[in-house]
Amino acid sequence: MEIVRLEHVYKEYPLGAHTVQALTDVSFSIDAGVVLAIAGPSGSGKSTLLNLIGCIDTPSSGRVIVAGHDITGKSPDALADLRARTVGFIFQTFNLFPVLTAKENVEYPLLQRHNMSKQERNKRVERLLEFVKLSKYARHLPNQLSGGQRQRVAIARALVTRPKVVLADEPTANLDHKTGEGILALMKDINRKTGTTFIFSTHDQKVVDFADHYIGIEDGQVRFLGVRRDGKWLIRDEWLQKARSDLAETRVSGVGAHVR
Ligand SMILES: Nc1ncnc2c1ncn2[C@@H]1O[C@H](COP(=O)(O)OP(=O)(O)OP(=O)(O)O)[C@@H](O)[C@H]1O
Ligand SMILES: [Mg+2]
Repeated sequence: MEIVRLEHVYKEYPLGAHTVQALTDVSFSIDAGVVLAIAGPSGSGKSTLLNLIGCIDTPSSGRVIVAGHDITGKSPDALADLRARTVGFIFQTFNLFPVLTAKENVEYPLLQRHNMSKQERNKRVERLLEFVKLSKYARHLPNQLSGGQRQRVAIARALVTRPKVVLADEPTANLDHKTGEGILALMKDINRKTGTTFIFSTHDQKVVDFADHYIGIEDGQVRFLGVRRDGKWLIRDEWLQKARSDLAETRVSGVGAHVR
């Protein structure tokens, strides 16, 4: 089942008298249940892309379809509603509320669910804290936690609404190598156990190996589409229109225009 589809997406930002072309004619689709890495250099458009898939922003033109809903032309209220029901977002800087404890941060997205009892809420939050191994830290404020622990709170918060898609913008950028790998392994584990789709951005080529699908962007355009089979990446260069082997030490054969 398809969970995300982009069709000829352009995104421009006004900047003074100019416009910045952040995305140019981006098209791809992904199936539910995958772990997708979006990789590219700084300024290539990764955050812009995640913000569109995460219903935080709308494209200048083209279509973005998330879990069957076309976000194009939706009002901010309708987008917020879709976002709350469909996606979980993990920001690069964690974005935890500093005055709320770890537990309260995780609980926060559920407070809008007026039909959920306090008991049910508690149960869900406690289970998730246990899952990310933070039960002992439930009462800690974010500044009483390490970077890796904060990131795990952010993951638990993104998962608490049981979203179809979890988006993570450079989830390892602020962490040391080992902690970063632990976070990615945790996401993969959640993916395997729940079937939740994970999409993360990174500029670190090594981190891409935690994914099973890969989209490489350069200058706001899709440059590479890849899928990992039997531990090997099959990568297609969209610009040169051919398979290639110089990425992540891969052996390559053609991959279709869509990442599946
Ligand atoms: N709100 C904005 N206003 C103007 N230009 C923007 C805005 N947001 C992003 N841009 C521009 O759009 C382009 C893509 O930015 P984006 O943040 O998506 O890149 P990125 O790949 O996430 O980079 P990084 O790895 O540094 O986070 C850049 O040229 C950036 O300067
Ligand atoms: Mg970014």
